[in-house]
Amino acid sequence: MIERAPVATGVPRHVAIIMDGNRRWARTHGYPALEGHRRGMEALERTIDAAQRTGITMLTVYAFSEENWSREGGEVFGLFGLAESFARDKAASLAARGVRVRMIGRRDRLPRGVVEAFRALEDRTVSCTAMTLTIAVDYGARTELRDACRALARDVADGRLAPDQIDEDAIAGKLWTAGMPDPDLVVRTGGELRLSNFLLYQCAYAELWSTLEPWPEFDAATLDRAVDAYATRERRFGR
Ligand code: FPP
Repeated sequence: MIERAPVATGVPRHVAIIMDGNRRWARTHGYPALEGHRRGMEALERTIDAAQRTGITMLTVYAFSEENWSREGGEVFGLFGLAESFARDKAASLAARGVRVRMIGRRDRLPRGVVEAFRALEDRTVSCTAMTLTIAVDYGARTELRDACRALARDVADGRLAPDQIDEDAIAGKLWTAGMPDPDLVVRTGGELRLSNFLLYQCAYAELWSTLEPWPEFDAATLDRAVDAYATRERRFGR
């Protein structure tokens, strides 16, 4: 059992964001869905800056879920185009600001250009220590847990692990987020109140905060409101 001392609230160390409402924003303003995602990308860039200024050291964002494959092909590949441009065009400025970038999720179904661009970005920023930005692409928490179970089962079958040695740390160590601290705060935009298969294991004790604002409108002021709300919470981790 991992010991979790009640921590002083204040600025959360790790913030996870469910960036929702891009298409609704686009519809409201008479734009195609992809323009909503393009503005969403700008909001992400603003948020990385704002998070760094606030003292948040880990930011994890949900960019593409497994369920998003069911969207119209043009929207899906438009999104991947935005992701690839982000990885190529922002590499220098992210590295200069000390932002380490990691991608989590399945890579085997993504266009090769996206995988290569993110691998290059991960390599370029591997020694950055000011902040870690984790981008979840083709991510689903149940698939992540399924794969972790399979990896543990293989370790048991091969005699590297006894069944009784499977504890919280052993499971966490097989997740895509291995080595990262759990999120302290989950922010969701667009007004919905659910986790939508995002970091289900890691968010067991996370504080939740939601805003009606769609993701393309998210800015430093919204992040401040989320952090202020977090600072008023008393975290007891079930005690
Ligand atoms: C949810 O809004 C948002 C997405 C499915 C995509 C989020 C992606 C970005 C912000 C840009 C991509 C960023 C990177 C780095 C890969 P929605 O489309 O579900 O909106 P709706 O709820 O209004 O339908």
